[in-house]
Amino acid sequence: VAEKPQAPRGTFDVLPEEGARRERLIAQVAAPLMAENGFGEIATPVFEDTALFARGVGESTDVVQKEMYSFEDQGGRSLTLRPEGTASVCRAYVEHGMHKLPQPVKLWYHGPFFRQEAPQAGRFRQFSQIGAETLGADSPLVDAESIALLNLLLVGAGVKGLKLRIGSLGSPDERRAYSHTLRAFLRANESQLAKEVVERIDLNPLRAFDAKDPGTRAVMMRAPLLMDVISRDGRERFNEVLRLLTAAGVSFDVDPMLVRGLDYYTDTVFEFTAEGLGAQAAVAGGGRYDGLIETLGGPPTPGFGWAAGIERMLASAEQAESEPKAAAFIALDAGADAAAALHLAVQLRARLRAPVEVELAERALRSQLKQAARIGARNVVIFGGGRGQYDAAVKNMETGTQQELSDLEAATFVAAIAEQLER
Ligand code: HAM
Repeated sequence: VAEKPQAPRGTFDVLPEEGARRERLIAQVAAPLMAENGFGEIATPVFEDTALFARGVGESTDVVQKEMYSFEDQGGRSLTLRPEGTASVCRAYVEHGMHKLPQPVKLWYHGPFFRQEAPQAGRFRQFSQIGAETLGADSPLVDAESIALLNLLLVGAGVKGLKLRIGSLGSPDERRAYSHTLRAFLRANESQLAKEVVERIDLNPLRAFDAKDPGTRAVMMRAPLLMDVISRDGRERFNEVLRLLTAAGVSFDVDPMLVRGLDYYTDTVFEFTAEGLGAQAAVAGGGRYDGLIETLGGPPTPGFGWAAGIERMLASAEQAESEPKAAAFIALDAGADAAAALHLAVQLRARLRAPVEVELAERALRSQLKQAARIGARNVVIFGGGRGQYDAAVKNMETGTQQELSDLEAATFVAAIAEQLER
């Protein structure tokens, strides 16, 4: 027997029911909320020059070091399936001269992202995000407004057990000086650290805070903290963000050990976790990235944003009520005119804006009625079976009653049936 093809490891098919939940999340929850908050939608390519992510996301990150899907195209260019959206949005900001627009520029996006991580529950190699970026303003109000918006999105999506952790990474200079101090501390405690933490001391010492092994965790409980060496201005800025968040009704825990997997962050960083997600509890995260646009060749421009994982939002949210049932099933009894049935279906769909099904399998009437019940149709419209061209029976599947509509006219036929269905 031939081997059956399967979706690649870490990927999945979205089947209609799940597709409908995703569609509702985007169209009914995210899009209106973003519009109310003045965000315009942007869509960037799913692949970019590899150099964009190497520069933007950072050479020392896991994402760039081992998780990118990079390939050479026929022209010998190195391209990469986007692992995240912020670098692309900033690239577009620079490329389209958006710094000339009234600032800040507020953009949102949704779509697929790709990371070659070890697959597990809630962690995929192709996943989807909803993201929002505010470019060109550095007020603490931006941080607070943007986080409050994310909070509304997560609540609106029905995500359960939301918790927000927030911290500050200070300025790039402070982070550099601190990395130095932290490296010395890690070297002094090397014997108690996990092997992969030791291997990353030079490249990315902050990631030691993310380690899960008890040895490293015990050491990190005593580590010097970046939040303790941030300048007075930086601390005041952070406190103002917290004050504004409180005023916006968003509760949080300050976490001085919070680090993020991407390199572009400065000042505020944060993460939302949710219930029901197991080990991959992070549902959304983000922060400020005031140096990124300049790194990508643009004018010095502050930025702030976040992204929320769609699969994780839906996994944590209550299962939505099931799809609306078909308003009608059009059954064809002996001698029925298929053209008239199809015409009626087209007219009814347009008029009722609801699903209308036509018998497509040439079954006997009894089997058609069973089929209508199986798909949960509320009514069955029966053609043929000795009825005239403009005659039909409408059977209400909930009450079981059947109404004969006879001697109707061509002009009023559709309206008469629609009226019967809407009862
Ligand atoms: P991130 O924390 O890497 O941030 O990803 C944001 C969210 O995407 C995560 O909280 C998670 O819900 C989801 N996610 C990430 N990786 C996976 C995966 N392998 N499988 C399933 N879901 C995943 C960013 O991507 C930044 N661009 C956010 C940002 C925007 N920062 C500033 N602006």
